[in-house]
Amino acid sequence: MTLAEEIARLKEERSAVLLAHNYQRPEVQDIADFVGDSLYLSRQAATTDRRVIVFAGVRFMAETAKILNPTKTVLLPDLGAGCALADSITAEELKRWKGEHPGAAVVSYINTSAEVKAESDYICTSSNAVQVVAGIPAEREILFLPDMFLGDHVRRITGRRMHLWVGDCPVHAKMRPEDVEAARRLHPGAPVLAHPECGCSTAALPAVDRVLSTDGMVRFARSTDAPEVLVATEVGILHRMRQENPRTRFLPISEGTVCPYMKAIDLTDIRDALALDRYRIEVPEATAGRARRALERMIAS
Ligand code: 13P
Ligand code: SF4
Repeated sequence: MTLAEEIARLKEERSAVLLAHNYQRPEVQDIADFVGDSLYLSRQAATTDRRVIVFAGVRFMAETAKILNPTKTVLLPDLGAGCALADSITAEELKRWKGEHPGAAVVSYINTSAEVKAESDYICTSSNAVQVVAGIPAEREILFLPDMFLGDHVRRITGRRMHLWVGDCPVHAKMRPEDVEAARRLHPGAPVLAHPECGCSTAALPAVDRVLSTDGMVRFARSTDAPEVLVATEVGILHRMRQENPRTRFLPISEGTVCPYMKAIDLTDIRDALALDRYRIEVPEATAGRARRALERMIAS
């Protein structure tokens, strides 16, 4: 029996659903029940009727699934699948920051720990950050965390007064406008898509054509008739783009844009997770209850 067949059998036996982020290894994406961005996967986690959720992604995504679905078993097949951006702010640091801005609305990116979510008024993802901030009453001051590049992008589009936490994703932040310009010289006329966590998405906006979440990029890929498209995000996304549209060449701004956390999980880990019931993600109800309010508001919007 192949690993994929074993996983399919175990999923049925355990009534499990396999969710995979767009950056996961190709072979993981290929056997997942749902593949998508953070918002899409949160919605799937919130509505599944399966008893077990296996999250092929990173820890904050599995925690989000557990918060939204406290009675289900949520498994993260490798506990090393963290997120450097989520680690860039702690709940204690956020409490201190809130103390300096009493009354401000706290908007946290979904790439945060459950404890940070519990201290937040709103949660957003790269798909809906502009919409979430634009919906906050105009007179309210806003604290946005932890990604400064996404925050700067949202601030520019909404024109809102926002304080930004100085955090970033090391994988995306290192992509600079110069890298985009160099790629453009090699592929003149190719549209450039960038994730809002990228260093290149803000410092020189004209450098890129579209700032999109990973699902936004996949939708663009599906409908484009451009012969070549340049992509500034984690290279795992290229698998899906190429599958969705084999007529276009999808090229990374840099082949080295690889998130080690998103590559931690392989098929053996997923098989073992289902067979050995590991690694269960738990969030204490005192934390989960407070985080849930902000998350449910986002899911419903
Ligand atoms: P998306 O929600 O756009 O998939 O982004 C998640 C992420 O971790 C980007 O680095
Ligand atoms: Fe976190 Fe960056 Fe990896 Fe996304 S790409 S999971 S933000 S470290």
